[in-house]
Amino acid sequence: MTTNVIDNEPETVLPERITRFPFPFSGDSYRYSTNVEPALKTVETEAGAWGGRLLDIDEHYLHELKERNEVLKRDPTRVRALPHMRPAVWDAISTLLPIMAEEHPDTMFFHRDGNACRWMNTLQNLELEFTIGDDSSLPVGPLRFLGSQVQDDIALLDHREDALWLDAGLVTFAADWSFGFDVGMKFLEVHGPVPRVHGEHIITRAQQFLMRLQPGEKYRRTNWTMTIDRRLDTSTETYPDWAQDRATVAADPAMPDRLHLRVEVQHLIRLPHSGAVLFLVRTHLLSLSDIAQIPAWRERLGRVLAELPEDMAEYKGISRYRHAASAWLLAH
Ligand code: HEM
Repeated sequence: MTTNVIDNEPETVLPERITRFPFPFSGDSYRYSTNVEPALKTVETEAGAWGGRLLDIDEHYLHELKERNEVLKRDPTRVRALPHMRPAVWDAISTLLPIMAEEHPDTMFFHRDGNACRWMNTLQNLELEFTIGDDSSLPVGPLRFLGSQVQDDIALLDHREDALWLDAGLVTFAADWSFGFDVGMKFLEVHGPVPRVHGEHIITRAQQFLMRLQPGEKYRRTNWTMTIDRRLDTSTETYPDWAQDRATVAADPAMPDRLHLRVEVQHLIRLPHSGAVLFLVRTHLLSLSDIAQIPAWRERLGRVLAELPEDMAEYKGISRYRHAASAWLLAH
């Protein structure tokens, strides 16, 4: 619990899910852009701050990892590594675990001697010795193991033929797309369905930027949409389970508690040995009721939702309820 307070209600202590939320809007309208910035810079918000760490662990850590495991058990297509990506997966493990230990010294520990590693994660009562590059030294496959330690979804892009290829990943919390369908595609093809960005050269510029990343460099960006209930798995594969709610939520009196702003903090890291680009997607959900506790957020999200062009609202899948959400926020 932090001690942040709302300006005009000094007695109110806000919960961490609000104080640490990466509220993504700095103005009253939103358009796509190649919005990348160096990672690890703390961003102050009206409610608190976010972004000081690369790997964010929060109160949902164990619950979300359990949910990930259940998704993977039901649907093995959510994890895939094309054979040439094995070194990149190990590169991701040997890059991320030391960072996680450094950022969370009270609960995590990592030591490496040559290729021999020792990893402790007290949140999971886990103590493990393994050897970099030796899949059999881990209890599960290396990508699956990494996905059992970090809350983020993981994608790995190979850099060849002057392009980036989505050739490996573990994605259980996709916002309305299918990792199984996209795996093996080029970065530009992956972004094929996104409106506007091609004419505005946003994706070609983003690819140029990513291909110039130097080993070890870390950048980040945010992306957003909306989700009904705290549902993380809104992938194409489970569409029948969640899509119907989009038609009914606007008329539901529980809309302010059910409707969540979904913000992805995405990290982009050039891995030092394999040269692959690691793309981490950490998903945060905050209900409209919680957002309304911060007057500046309430107004800004209300205005962004009202102003968003229809093609973008349609692509994000929010067109049937965004005006109801906006009206509630602005009237609240
Ligand atoms: C600077 C880098 C990047 C930029 C500027 C960018 C930009 C965007 C934008 C604007 C969208 C639409 C989001 C929305 O309206 O909700 C999008 C969607 C998406 N992005 Fe990126 N992106 C970047 C990096 C990546 C990377 C590295 C991947 C790796 C897999 C990726 C995978 C996707 C996917 C799968 C979608 C959903 C596409 C669909 O609807 O099927 N992005 N991206």
